[in-house]
Amino acid sequence: MANELKGKVNYTVNGNIAILEVDNPPVNPLSSGVRVGLSEYINKANNDDSIEGIILTGAGRSFIAGADISEFGKKADGPDLHTTLREIEFSKKPVLAAINGTALGGGLETALVCNYRMGTNKAIVGLPEVNLGLLPGAGGTQRLPRLIGPSQALKMMISGAPISGKKALEQGVIDAISDNSLIEDAIAFLQEKIGLNEHPKVRDQNEKLLEARGTENVLAEAKALASKTRRGQFAPGQIIACVETAINEDDFDTGMKKESEYFLECLMNPQREAMIHIFFGERAASKILDIPKETPRLPINSAGIVGSGTMGGGIAMNFANAGIPVLVLDQDKKNLDRGMGVIEKNYQMMVDRGRMSQKQKDMVMALISPTLSYDDLSEVDITIEAVYENLDLKKEIFKTLDEVTKDDAILASNTSGLDIDAIASSTKRPGKVVGTHFFSPANIMRLLEVVRGKDSSDETMATVMSLGKKMGKAAVVSLNAPGFIGNRMLAGYTHQANLLLLEGALPNQVDSALESFGMSMGPFRMLDLVGLDLGWRARKLANIETPLTNKISDALCEQDRFGQKNSKGFYNYSEGSRAPNPAPENEAIYNEISNQNNIVRREISDQEIIDRCILALVNEGARILEEGVAQRSGDMDIVYINGYGFPIWRGGPMFYANQLGLTEVIKKISSFSELDENFWKPAALLQKLADESGVFGEAPVAEERAELLGFKKANMGGV
Ligand code: 3HC
Repeated sequence: MANELKGKVNYTVNGNIAILEVDNPPVNPLSSGVRVGLSEYINKANNDDSIEGIILTGAGRSFIAGADISEFGKKADGPDLHTTLREIEFSKKPVLAAINGTALGGGLETALVCNYRMGTNKAIVGLPEVNLGLLPGAGGTQRLPRLIGPSQALKMMISGAPISGKKALEQGVIDAISDNSLIEDAIAFLQEKIGLNEHPKVRDQNEKLLEARGTENVLAEAKALASKTRRGQFAPGQIIACVETAINEDDFDTGMKKESEYFLECLMNPQREAMIHIFFGERAASKILDIPKETPRLPINSAGIVGSGTMGGGIAMNFANAGIPVLVLDQDKKNLDRGMGVIEKNYQMMVDRGRMSQKQKDMVMALISPTLSYDDLSEVDITIEAVYENLDLKKEIFKTLDEVTKDDAILASNTSGLDIDAIASSTKRPGKVVGTHFFSPANIMRLLEVVRGKDSSDETMATVMSLGKKMGKAAVVSLNAPGFIGNRMLAGYTHQANLLLLEGALPNQVDSALESFGMSMGPFRMLDLVGLDLGWRARKLANIETPLTNKISDALCEQDRFGQKNSKGFYNYSEGSRAPNPAPENEAIYNEISNQNNIVRREISDQEIIDRCILALVNEGARILEEGVAQRSGDMDIVYINGYGFPIWRGGPMFYANQLGLTEVIKKISSFSELDENFWKPAALLQKLADESGVFGEAPVAEERAELLGFKKANMGGV
């Protein structure tokens, strides 16, 4: 029966104990075959008189990674999860969950219906459903608060962050930790319980909920956490409502019924589809279409960073956090000392905020060593150059690195826009050269654009993509083309924001409209943060005439308004605060510059602001796809969500366009063409897809074009 189903459960017997092992590689989600297997074998064990206890565990590195995410929104085969879990919960014989690895979402919920839970030091448990626009819908919202109290449970469910086995033991999620053989220890533990008349069920434990009944703080704290960290998201409110029911209802099954209703609402909400698109999109982005899966990766056991500035320091922290020793090189002793000081301060801040222990800080700091000499880089497996954007300087550095490093070391450049092939040309190993565009602050931002030069070898690309994953980055491949993916799209977005300002909108209106759309920060707040003077000074230095869209920001600079750095730019800032206050004194400048350029200022609606800024991203994204610079439309969604503050619950700009429908996108773009015919010309691919399917598909497009630009034969399911 289980043949056509996905995943299975292995059944073995050890004396009087039945062992059920979930086997659904690589991470054991609760797919149809697993549910069938669990149901069948729980019954088998219960019906076998020689069996007195049951152990539930997982094969490989995972216990159970949750419900099978690919089944959401589709009709699934086999019994539903609730039925299966009920069979486990009401087993006549005691059940122990032996948590050998990750127990996430439905995986932890499965463990919570067992009578006992034992983990290993490698166990990781959590309820991350919120990251998929969902709530823990298999009893998690009702059982976890009973076990560890509603306050801790809400923190886990709203953050979605998993905890270690050790922490799970401290909090009471699990009963014991095994330091040796998990199954042996689990058997010994269970043998001691077998004689008992009754075995604990989480559903019966109400004390911690009763303590919270009648008090407001628990729910108020959860609401505050949700509005601070999950702005605009639907699921957190549903999670809180489920826990509120758990606190106030005596009957467990009433809470379960509510949970099911609220889960269904999440399932039907468009945010769920958007966030699951991002889950699979991030995994798809890590694969390079024409590079075979089995391509060998070079071992990266040591690294060297050239440059100890903000970027260099942040990148070094990524290596140390991933457990890889890293040398930070700067030829200026003062810069090097300052850079190491900043790294130390950043880690100290994490210790102060409780995000890292002193011991962990000491461990990562011990992995970062300063050096003044290139010779020290002779044995590293990879170098990342992170000096300022100057092609000649970078070429010079790569020439030196080529001479001093071992032959098979990868040489990467952290550039946001320079030509990787030009940099590679200064070495004798262009196949080992690649771009790694980290985003600032590099130790925090998840996006990593991996820039593929025309000669970057398969091995180099596969190695750097794996390294990105090890660092916890969302790595996306871009061909070596101007602006790569993210900054090229951003140019159109900022261009529109600046035009809207010239046409009559105020910075505050543009920012509020885009922030209410969900962007983490509006464009003018962002420009103030970056500093208006950078472009202004560069233009002055190079004697370049100010383009129309920069005229206002340059005029502000002429009045000493540089942005946050001197407390005045598009906004005013109070001393030591980053909160923007409107700057009415700027309005005369806006009016004057609009006048000077014959632009009649007008009322602009919030919808126009959103459409023009976001559809500028979409249209440029379509061009990037058409040229094969990005592999898939989903890759651009990953870029925008992880590097540019696009709301995850909208699934990224390309997914947003799909939800609008490409015909509607074309209609809107065409309506703007009278403002600027050239800018608002629909990308050919956008027009084509609007005519054909109406959406950007998941599959790559423009194979011939991609080949021309550097990708080889398209070969789905590569690295
Ligand atoms: N369902 C289906 N497929 C899953 C899956 C799941 N729950 N979890 C992971 N996968 C797939 C991935 O898509 C990937 O497929 P691919 O190889 O074809 O790209 C493969 O398994 C390996 O995944 P990763 O590359 O992510 O492997 P890692 O080792 O880096 O990470 C992990 C493992 C930490 C388990 C990570 O995969 C993960 O976080 N998974 C999702 C966990 C989760 O969100 N669980 C909750 C699901 S919803 C739920 O349970 C609802 C319930 O409350 C009713």
